Amino acid sequence: MCGIVAYSGKKESVINSLVTGLKRLEYRGYDSAGIAAISSSGIYDKKTVGKVTNLERAVLEDQPVGLNGIGIAHTRWATHGEPTVANAHPHASADGRIWVVHNGIIENYLEIKKNLQKKGIKFTSQTDTEVVAKLIGDLYKGDLRSAVLETVAQLKGAFALCIISKDEPERLIGVKYASPLLVGIGKDELIIASDASAIIERTKKVVYLEDGELVDINKSDYEVVSFQDEAIDKSVEKIDWDVDAASKQGYEHYLLKEIMEQPEAIENSLRGRILLDEADVRFGGLMDVSARLKDINRVVLLGVGTSYYSAKLGELYFNALTSIPATAAMSPEYRYTKNNIDKNTWLIAVSQSGETADTIAAIEEAKRHGALVTGLVNVVGSSISRMTDAGVYNHTGPEISVASTKAFTSQSLLLLMHAILLGRQQGLDFSASKKLIRAVVDLPKSIGEVLKSRDLIEKVASSIRKDNDLFYLGRQYNYPIALEGALKIKELAYIHAEGLSGGELKHGFIALIEPGFTTIAIATDDVVKDKMIANIAEVKARKGRVVAIANEVIKQADATVVVPNIGSDMLQPLVNNIALQLIAYYVAKERKLDIDQPRNLAKSVTVE
Ligand code: G6P
Repeated sequence: MCGIVAYSGKKESVINSLVTGLKRLEYRGYDSAGIAAISSSGIYDKKTVGKVTNLERAVLEDQPVGLNGIGIAHTRWATHGEPTVANAHPHASADGRIWVVHNGIIENYLEIKKNLQKKGIKFTSQTDTEVVAKLIGDLYKGDLRSAVLETVAQLKGAFALCIISKDEPERLIGVKYASPLLVGIGKDELIIASDASAIIERTKKVVYLEDGELVDINKSDYEVVSFQDEAIDKSVEKIDWDVDAASKQGYEHYLLKEIMEQPEAIENSLRGRILLDEADVRFGGLMDVSARLKDINRVVLLGVGTSYYSAKLGELYFNALTSIPATAAMSPEYRYTKNNIDKNTWLIAVSQSGETADTIAAIEEAKRHGALVTGLVNVVGSSISRMTDAGVYNHTGPEISVASTKAFTSQSLLLLMHAILLGRQQGLDFSASKKLIRAVVDLPKSIGEVLKSRDLIEKVASSIRKDNDLFYLGRQYNYPIALEGALKIKELAYIHAEGLSGGELKHGFIALIEPGFTTIAIATDDVVKDKMIANIAEVKARKGRVVAIANEVIKQADATVVVPNIGSDMLQPLVNNIALQLIAYYVAKERKLDIDQPRNLAKSVTVE
């Protein structure tokens, strides 16, 4: 998830507006930043690695002169290629006359790159974005809008773009397809941005672009057209939140923002990886090790904290969909157990940050035994992504709040897809696989439905705000969710909670149930639902309180959070977990705790 700002207005404001806008987007994370502005001598450009302040300092040192008030800028969160100056945006056409910033992923960039290379065009970065700049340059015949429209007709994937050209110094073009872009309408100035937080300091008037729309700015005028170049009448809307809330996109906490953006985050995790017609999946990051995957006879899924719980779900997925035995392993314990791993073991290291010291130590151990080690990591360019043989990125964008939410959903889903990949190699049935993949594709919508009922979930959360101890019960695919739900409420609300298999309850734990003790029981429609209902009855018989997560109201429970039945036992837990994330959030909020930075915790634990 990167950030875009582009400006057309007063000469003296261009640099300041671009840099301030980028700073407002810093909450999204960044690894490099860059700027390109039209000047009397052509284009002034500057790119730096690291924080936006590095860029600001560099631009201040340069003191560019002759700027005309039009420019584009970008903060990058690396996807294709490491965070270097060469990979930072803006990228330029071969002749350096046209400059582009981009958010999203161009899925067919290799194909376009090859065609351009055949024409002798040279590339200087590893990014997918550079092909866009080179292609616009190649198609340019004196009218920037025509060249951009011809270009977007060739692009597949997601793209929000801003483009300027030295030859048309009064013009600024923005394009939106499956990645957000809006136009701020200020006093004598227009600002394009990927996110309203970048414009809110200058204006609250905004035009939201839809997919397949292009905005053509000519100094202070703007026109919105379709990708077929037909005029579109757009209305100007008013942003109803203020600058203080801007860095969290209007949400009170990063955590809520990250919970709420899960449908979009999951879409990003899936993009380019689903082959529905073939009932299969594809991971570009595992292509290089595809031969080794054929000789695998054991799978180990490694992680700690939330990542361990997604590994536990992954273990169930692999064991259900492949004939290869899989085990989840907790990173800190890994070196101290006899692992019996060898070159035919596939170890998948799961880590949001890619920097967790225990996981790194366990990877080193596995590598010493010759195992194939791949990563499932969110942060691009992190240590784990560099030390593994190959890997898959989550592409969910930066997760800022310390407690992990969207990364867990993405990790679990992508582990299911890893299991499908191996399963299909071993003859996993076409129609079973297709049904599962269809449920994968529909998951963002189902998650969106749970998010819509957050007000009701808030009321249920309110009923447990004074509890000091909780049980979370789940079975089969919902057992790891019970563990994760309990972890979330510990991290966020400082409530002691235990995640249990429903089957464990009678073996000791039930001794703690007394009148008023709350148990959160996951009882959605699956093969273990009857067993869960029996557990609920056991708790009620001891006058305990039960909050159920179910597909319909459970009459034995004191309260039920009803979630949609998505018709897939394997994916239903990820929908159920959204309700548990929201419960933890609202309890912590009622307790007035520091939600984004809970006491004693760190987002990335880089010491053992
Ligand atoms: C810390 C974080 C957790 C996270 C765990 C593993 O404990 O607070 O949220 O689940 O580390 O982190 P990783 O980056 O490896 O997923």
